[in-house]
Amino acid sequence: MRVCVVGSGGREHALAHVLSRSCYVVVTPGNPGIAGSVGAPATEIEADLYVIGPEAPLVDGLADELRAAGRLVFGPGADGALLEGSKAWMKELLLAAGVPTADHGSFTEPEAAIRFLDGMGDLFVIKTDGLAAGKGVLVTEDRAEACDAVRAYLSGEAFGDAGRRVVIEEGLSGPELSVLAVCDGHRAAPLAPAQDFKRIGEGDAGPNTGGMGAYSPVPVAGADAVDEVMDKAVLPTLGELQRRGIDYRGVLYAGLMLTPQGLRVLEYNVRFGDPEAQVVLPRLRSDLADLLAGAAAGSLKDDPVYGDDAAVTVVCASEGYPTSPRTGDLIAGIEAANTEVGVTVFCAGVASAFEGSNGAELPVQSGQSLVTAGGRVLNITGQGPDLATARDRAYAGVTHIDWPGRYVRFDIAAEAAASVSKG
Ligand code: AMP
Ligand code: GLY
Repeated sequence: MRVCVVGSGGREHALAHVLSRSCYVVVTPGNPGIAGSVGAPATEIEADLYVIGPEAPLVDGLADELRAAGRLVFGPGADGALLEGSKAWMKELLLAAGVPTADHGSFTEPEAAIRFLDGMGDLFVIKTDGLAAGKGVLVTEDRAEACDAVRAYLSGEAFGDAGRRVVIEEGLSGPELSVLAVCDGHRAAPLAPAQDFKRIGEGDAGPNTGGMGAYSPVPVAGADAVDEVMDKAVLPTLGELQRRGIDYRGVLYAGLMLTPQGLRVLEYNVRFGDPEAQVVLPRLRSDLADLLAGAAAGSLKDDPVYGDDAAVTVVCASEGYPTSPRTGDLIAGIEAANTEVGVTVFCAGVASAFEGSNGAELPVQSGQSLVTAGGRVLNITGQGPDLATARDRAYAGVTHIDWPGRYVRFDIAAEAAASVSKG
């Protein structure tokens, strides 16, 4: 099978890597760290299956365009992608479907928003309605900061049009969990659960990022927890989408909080998580291409198969991420990291040091020099028989990676690995 993966980050590298076990894979636009990256747009590439990685092309209707041309596509159309493209629409759908989620209001006027905020307790949660690359959520106990954010979001100053409507939520607490389900329009099968680390700083300090690391499996979420997420969240959501005439074929990614009052959906994403994909996909024992092609065709077959092993991924980011990442630094150590047992490096914000001016075809040669070209630059994934081993391997890989200002969180999966190894 020939598969075309759309996107250019670590998630797409992980997709390409795992799909290559059984398929010929091209990635558009990819990046110079991903073998098989091509310059042509997806609509000009002949493939048996198209897998769309990021949310923006899904929200913009790329899946619809490809399906209209008779292609087999894994990824929802623009109608289903609104689950991620508009948090206000998503919340309304969850209420209609009876899915547990934080109480909320949605607003376009600052005065009404701040009045509502004042009734929401001591933890203030403000979200852009539209897409903001994982950075549009503020969670703070500081009322002044919350009010400033409401004004900055609504004026368009902070996130442009994405913030001109805000969703304000009840503040919740509890462990977080990501459950990614593969959907074929009417049925869904969960992948192994994962947990990601959204804040920039160790101990979950500082602003939200796209994600600084992840691990799978999640000791606090056994098979029962995943069944509960499917029964209370994913399946009712898919049913409500169907009732609205939306044929949802792609990943439904539930971002959840396990609160003392039970699970709550914090968000839905309409794609694989990044960096969750970098731990969930390499662990898969069954064939990924079969799974995605079945879902894309509307006939999901067997459930994904996992073993008892574990994976941990650590993001190496540029200095200044998430606000103003410094770029253009030469990256050292990718090959050495890849030679460590159980370690795979997935490339995200990288460019070729020798990139041609047209930026067209970028074949990867061994030893080719890469420079930093974004905030999240590399994902170092370690795999092993348990979380502690996978974690040690990921960080052994990280020790090889270097460039000026390279930033890494050193507490990824620390608690989870300790909880398991202590028994
Ligand atoms: P989201 O993109 O909506 O998942 O939000 C990003 C992060 O903000 C989540 O992973 C949580 O850590 C935090 N968060 C989101 N919503 C809430 C909430 N209602 N209460 C507490 N924390 C939240
Ligand atoms: N890791 C969070 C996301 O992909 O949105």
